[in-house]
Amino acid sequence: MSQTLLLVGIAGVALLAALGAFAIAWRRSTGAPSWREAVSRETRRADKSPPPPVVEEPVLVEPAGEAVEIEEEREAVPAAVTVTHEQRVVEVSPEEAGVSRRQFFNRALSATFGSFLAILGIELLAFMWPKLKGGFGASIDAGAPADLLAATRTADGGVIPAFIPEARAYVVPATETLSAQFEGKGVAAAGLMALYQRCVHLGCRVPWCATSQGFECPCHGSKYDSIGEYFAGPAPRNLDRFQVELIDERFIIHTGNIIQTPRAPSRTVSYPQGPSCIALVATEE
Ligand code: FES
Repeated sequence: MSQTLLLVGIAGVALLAALGAFAIAWRRSTGAPSWREAVSRETRRADKSPPPPVVEEPVLVEPAGEAVEIEEEREAVPAAVTVTHEQRVVEVSPEEAGVSRRQFFNRALSATFGSFLAILGIELLAFMWPKLKGGFGASIDAGAPADLLAATRTADGGVIPAFIPEARAYVVPATETLSAQFEGKGVAAAGLMALYQRCVHLGCRVPWCATSQGFECPCHGSKYDSIGEYFAGPAPRNLDRFQVELIDERFIIHTGNIIQTPRAPSRTVSYPQGPSCIALVATEE
């Protein structure tokens, strides 16, 4: 869900950036309107600056002719135009003229937008990469359920979680009857569960404590029982877990689907069953 929201957010930002760049480019290509066209009528009314000078079109008059014979040679000249200096126009080639300011800004804008799209593409690829190559975020094959069940039980009936590094998960035996908070969420298959190794308080890796038969966080003392139900400490909920599935007799951990559950109102497995592994004495909040 959070990944979907992130993707939608990235797509939205990219769309807004594209629209902004298009608007700027369009404005530059069509020329900016005068400030009077750009502001509202109220702003124009409130403007106290003197009105711009009115430039009248020069009036063309025929010079008075003295002789009928040279009438055709005289040209009509504008009466109101005064030539103050001579303007010389020198033709130059495009190479000599170089890049105009408008061309420079348009090219800079295109380069910036192109760089933005390239970075966005790289970021998206990096985001999707784990799923493409089968790392964390993908569906991980943890093994045959029979092997996992044998590996996660000690001879005296205790639990010893199987750690799956690619999934960052502990595989543990599930209880026969799931408590209400786990029902219908796909967190158990073939009698197994996959718990996320990360403490839900501030993210420390939570190690297993064989003596107490639970997970105990060394950072601030949160404690969870063998199926990750909250027992004590500042953790706000149970250990997170992954959706799991039995596919072709293989225990598959969908690490892209992290399931969060609230603190268990009552635990379904016995904890603690012996001394704690951490020195901190956590109190239930
Ligand atoms: S990070 Fe585990 S209790 Fe704080």
